[in-house]
Amino acid sequence: METKKTMDRLELKHLFHNLFVFFTIVSFSSSVHGVSEAVGYGYKLKSVSVDANGKWLTADLGLIRNSSVYGPDIQNLRLVASFETSNRLRIKVTDSGHERWEIGQEIIRRQSQFPHRSLPENHRSSSAKYQGETQKQQKENYYVSDPTSDLIFTLHNTTPFGLSVRRRSSGDVLFDTSPDASDSGTFLVFKDQYIQLSSSLPQGRSSLYGLGEHTKRSFKLQHNDSLTLWNADLASANLDVNLYGSHPFYLDIRSASADGKVSAGTTHGVLLLNSNGMDIVYGGNRITYKIIGGVIDLYVFAGPLPDRVVEQYTQLIGRPAAMPYWSFGFHQCRYGYKNVSDIEGVVAGYAKARIPLEVMWTDIDYMDGFKDFTLDPVNFPKDQMKRFVDKLHQNDQKYVVIIDPGISVNSTYGTYIRGMQADIFIKRDGYPYLGRVWPGPVYFPDFVNPRTETYWAGEIKMFRDFLPVDGLWLDMNEISNFITSPPTPNSALDDPAYKINNQGIQRPINNNTVPATSLHFGNLTEYNAHNLYGLLECKATHAALINVTGKRPFILSRSTFVSSGKYAAHWTGDNAATWEDLAYTIPSILNFGLFGIPMVGADICGFSRDTTEELCQRWIQLGAFYPFARDHSEINSIRQELYLWDSVAASARKVLGLRYCLLPYFYTLMYEAHKEGTPIARPLFFTFPQDIHTYEINSQFLLGKGIMVSPVLKSGAVSVDAYFPSGNWFDLFNYSNSVSANSGKYLTLAAPRDHINVHVREGNIIAMQGEARTTKAARKTPFRLLVAVSSTETMSGQVFLDDGEEVEMGAEGGKWSLVRFYGGISSSGDEVFARSEVENGAFALSQKWMIDKVTFIGLENVGRLTGYELSSGNNKTNLYANPIVKARLDKNAKF
Ligand code: GLC
Repeated sequence: METKKTMDRLELKHLFHNLFVFFTIVSFSSSVHGVSEAVGYGYKLKSVSVDANGKWLTADLGLIRNSSVYGPDIQNLRLVASFETSNRLRIKVTDSGHERWEIGQEIIRRQSQFPHRSLPENHRSSSAKYQGETQKQQKENYYVSDPTSDLIFTLHNTTPFGLSVRRRSSGDVLFDTSPDASDSGTFLVFKDQYIQLSSSLPQGRSSLYGLGEHTKRSFKLQHNDSLTLWNADLASANLDVNLYGSHPFYLDIRSASADGKVSAGTTHGVLLLNSNGMDIVYGGNRITYKIIGGVIDLYVFAGPLPDRVVEQYTQLIGRPAAMPYWSFGFHQCRYGYKNVSDIEGVVAGYAKARIPLEVMWTDIDYMDGFKDFTLDPVNFPKDQMKRFVDKLHQNDQKYVVIIDPGISVNSTYGTYIRGMQADIFIKRDGYPYLGRVWPGPVYFPDFVNPRTETYWAGEIKMFRDFLPVDGLWLDMNEISNFITSPPTPNSALDDPAYKINNQGIQRPINNNTVPATSLHFGNLTEYNAHNLYGLLECKATHAALINVTGKRPFILSRSTFVSSGKYAAHWTGDNAATWEDLAYTIPSILNFGLFGIPMVGADICGFSRDTTEELCQRWIQLGAFYPFARDHSEINSIRQELYLWDSVAASARKVLGLRYCLLPYFYTLMYEAHKEGTPIARPLFFTFPQDIHTYEINSQFLLGKGIMVSPVLKSGAVSVDAYFPSGNWFDLFNYSNSVSANSGKYLTLAAPRDHINVHVREGNIIAMQGEARTTKAARKTPFRLLVAVSSTETMSGQVFLDDGEEVEMGAEGGKWSLVRFYGGISSSGDEVFARSEVENGAFALSQKWMIDKVTFIGLENVGRLTGYELSSGNNKTNLYANPIVKARLDKNAKF
């Protein structure tokens, strides 16, 4: 492979110098350990060094014997295990003699040096902190652990060697590559184009989530799942096949161990940071990675709770990008809008039906011959388009358009000419690679090339100068190609020995994409960079939009990779208007929350096939609670704007009405995601990790910690079986409807056609505003505070406030406020109260936002009234300045 290069001599010298100065090197000879054919395949330890504090270990590994499949074995490997933080263990295994392709932390974090071609800095550290070392050896095994960490890494001095990660607190083994009877010797295979790594898992006690992107019936991975990661343009209506993005990250929640040492809900995460194509085989008691390149760069995140795992994961890969306030409004799109009057009609249709519409979108239809950054002169002419967008803006609405990566090969087209001049297209055999997408023949900009960022920013600026779009929709960036070019004869890149299960039938990796032998900047092969294309396009687009607008960008990307959440939102791609697809949207959306891309939604009412009135009604009821809520459909299906059916329109008004009241809550969840990585839409086990029933749930989810959505997902159903974790829950459409579950239980709830069950749990304080048709209008309405009273638990909540489009969210020195709310019951028991604590209060005060109503619900559960509203009338309560609101409870009062 052409990425294989000899490691820079200076660095090697430097590395060994450090090792000699600060480490004890222990050598073994294979005879001591009696390597025999019977032991099988694998590697043995040749030398091991452990640093002074036991936080860092380097081992040299030698091959025991060659295997014949998938090419020759790499003879010598180096393994480095290190605690990068007390919650993050990194285990890296690579060829010790030759440099290999690795994405490294530079891409997902600093992104300054690309491509990465040296050992990571922290593995070259020469600081004196390792002085005074003591080697930790026990029973011939080697251990590393940060004293503040719950994780212990063990290198098993067996033949072949093994490694494991376990918890200090309970002994629970999280990852273990030790060979067992069934998999003897195949836990580590390392070849140029085939790497296999396999870990056992405690059968029955381990529930895994993640490893996307796939459409799956079940959120929890099933015991015979085989998951392929290779970005591909395949409709998400297809179950279980590799889709648009690659996220080799899983979260593992454990149930209690028999000895009682592990409590239910203890969670850790595992990332295999690798951009090459792979299959991951999950067999319940074992997970096996089969990767066609790169290195093993494995991270274990200690948790020990689900939200902490995602916090630790996004600390490494980057926190989710802040999304503008307006992007939480409702979006309407369609492939096939005919002309400006068509889209004007849609905007008018929403207004007439009094359904909120925040953002109007257009698909490729607006372009001239499907060329990016152009307008169709007949159907979407410049002057009409400008008037259309100006009018949207006057009405506080927004406009987003699609951009595809393929640049039409056309010598009269400026974007093409400038691309050729800048020489920024992906090449094959020395020439720009010629693909075929909507416009016909196209070249693809190479976003690995730093010059492409400048080129791309220039094109976006020119386009925005005549049409001030508010966001960009990046589609087809897997890269999707309508043709499959023939492989280069005898090329192990175009046709590697191990065939990943591309598209479920081992299609060649070049199928309908850019061939693996194509080259990016720095001779980086498409073979290695394929899965990174969408990420790098998002990064360039994000930088360009900030540059051009000075505001917080909104980007929606179909293709994603580890760390895409730093730049973009995602939708789940081309689903179908079926009841099954409606249900699949929940696992898909929850997965993207785990992947650090919390702004995610699915095409509401379904993309392909004709929707029906009932399906569309149920879909908007659910979709109104997706973090990203957009109705989208394809050109050959019937129209499905929400105002087209009276019943759908009525439901849309009702559910979007609640969504708009909850905008401050959604936005505060965005803030929490941006600061801590926690998803906006969460699995139930995020709040209830100890409740093992929540591990199986596919049809409900939480917004934040306390609002639960339980949709109808079946045709004809007018009730829903919903699981309620323990506590008191209140219907958000009608506070007096409450559900009590002493311990978690399934309940059958009425769900007539015009109703979706949305509940808030006791203990939550939710800041809400009023209904409105745009987010800007909603932002001007007074706040209401909803206090779901709990007699046994803390009552709390918070609201984040800023102007909604400042580039940074909650940055030091920025214009924002954070108000934390606490509730309580007085010691005499006859008074409930809510108080606030304000951080950075000046901004909120300057906006003169008032809370004009505080509603306490759930008082009957503390033996009081069924609902109490403190409407302060003339005495409006400014909670940002004046912290305490009390409500006196009067058993005799009537409301
Ligand atoms: C792709 C997108 C879809 C879009 C269509 C036309 O299929 O996934 O959303 O409508 O292309 O651009």
